Amino acid sequence: MPPFALEVHDISKRYGDCVSLDGVSVSFEAGKIHAVVGENGAGKTTLLRITAGVIVPDKGSVTISGHALSAFTPRGASALGLGMVQQHFSILDELTVLENLLVGSEFAERGFVRENEGRERAEEALRKLGRELPLGSRAGDLALEDRQTLEIARLLLRHTQILVLDEPTAALAPPRVTALYERLRELASEGKTIIVVTHKLSEIVQHADRAVVLKKGHFVEAFPIFERNEKTADAIRGAMIGNAASISSMRRAPHPAGKRIVLRVKNVSAGPLRDVTLEVAEGEILGVAGIEGNGQRDLFHVILGEVPLTQGSVDIAQKEGASSRVAEVAEDRHRDGLVLSASVAENLVLGELERVSKHGLIREDALRSLATSRMQSIVPATPSASAASLSGGNQQKILVSRAIAALEEGAELVLLAHPTRGVDFAARADIHERLLDAIGEAKGAVLVSYDLDELRELATRIIVLRGGRIVAELPNTATDEEIGRAMLGSEAS
Ligand SMILES: Nc1ncnc2c1ncn2[C@@H]1O[C@H](COP(=O)(O)OP(=O)(O)O)[C@@H](O)[C@H]1O
Ligand SMILES: [Mg+2]
Repeated sequence: MPPFALEVHDISKRYGDCVSLDGVSVSFEAGKIHAVVGENGAGKTTLLRITAGVIVPDKGSVTISGHALSAFTPRGASALGLGMVQQHFSILDELTVLENLLVGSEFAERGFVRENEGRERAEEALRKLGRELPLGSRAGDLALEDRQTLEIARLLLRHTQILVLDEPTAALAPPRVTALYERLRELASEGKTIIVVTHKLSEIVQHADRAVVLKKGHFVEAFPIFERNEKTADAIRGAMIGNAASISSMRRAPHPAGKRIVLRVKNVSAGPLRDVTLEVAEGEILGVAGIEGNGQRDLFHVILGEVPLTQGSVDIAQKEGASSRVAEVAEDRHRDGLVLSASVAENLVLGELERVSKHGLIREDALRSLATSRMQSIVPATPSASAASLSGGNQQKILVSRAIAALEEGAELVLLAHPTRGVDFAARADIHERLLDAIGEAKGAVLVSYDLDELRELATRIIVLRGGRIVAELPNTATDEEIGRAMLGSEAS
């Protein structure tokens, strides 16, 4: 056995003026869970995509299980036993679960899949991951966490020894995060090497064996995790941002009665929602917890007036002359929020292009000045850069800036879906502060998040949705256990 499952030596990669990686060397032992951490734009994704042969570095070498990766192609890396689950999955929606599992495996050649021969191995891989997916169903219809399982199972079918996962938990509800790490731990104990990118410190401290810290394209430090406690979290935090900035754990006070109501949802049933009643007063942030698919998304659609109500009513306060009543940070930034092919400036003023246009033509100067005023130093990029070139965290900041602008321009209510998903904690703190500022004492907000810390830090109170109903209302001092119990209901007992 070579001493390391994966060795990266002196890797550099630049995009134009942007140096993504600068001489990074780091090694990964087999049989362990390694967390790769660093602020947004630190180069984590670029580094791991290079090891998977998806990106060709400008210089440097990658050695997998003692063999040099000679050609940087996914096939080359895969042949040496390394496979990656990217942030945007590579599942083919139109194929079945089984076909997705077998494509690219030993049970497929020249576009032909030998389903019967591969079926048993496919079932075995899924079983190993603790999930029974219907092999014949269309992959596009699977829930997010099942798609993730499918991606991992696919790697297992290809005899992958080194599994690289880029932010696998960014969109998972807390109980599912634990379940995922349990599976990863089993794989590690069989000798596989697990490399995971994550922003959640608590997750690293709880589950990883080692943290590899990158900063601005440089390797900073790698340290083993011996103690699963707050001291370790501080050490990782310190390595990531240079000094151990303490994260505020202040809770917002519950809201006093007698305030103006900005959102009133009364006895609403629509889609999966059943008899939902809630109110949000000015200055209030209502947190919504729940496992994915329990009505959170539907609640936002209802408030936005996008689905017909079968019963009940929704009232939103409206300021005279305001251009919109509701600001939003959408759940899926690629589907609902961001045009990747457009520039940062265009994205910042999306939906309002007429304001910077004359006779149907966009006035570049007006666009630039409106966008610049919106950037408020929150997005560290030139306005003309394409949105696609930004890291996920900075893309998210564009959406947040836009919502804040809408609040400043008169919207009374903001809907926040996972506003800091995939964002490092420095940027997270920054986004939180700006949102709290913009909401202030005069606006209201509804916040959906799987990050229970985020719910507790921002919300004045927390409701829990399960099966389309509000099953609990909790103070922002509720523990993980209390919230988790309400989320899972009888499943937990
Ligand atoms: N295709 C690309 N074109 C231009 N710049 C890129 C591209 N991919 C990444 N970058 C830049 O490289 C840096 C590192 O990005 P990335 O590896 O995605 O960081 P992380 O995953 O740590 O957030 C960022 O500044 C990002 O903007
Ligand atoms: Mg990344």
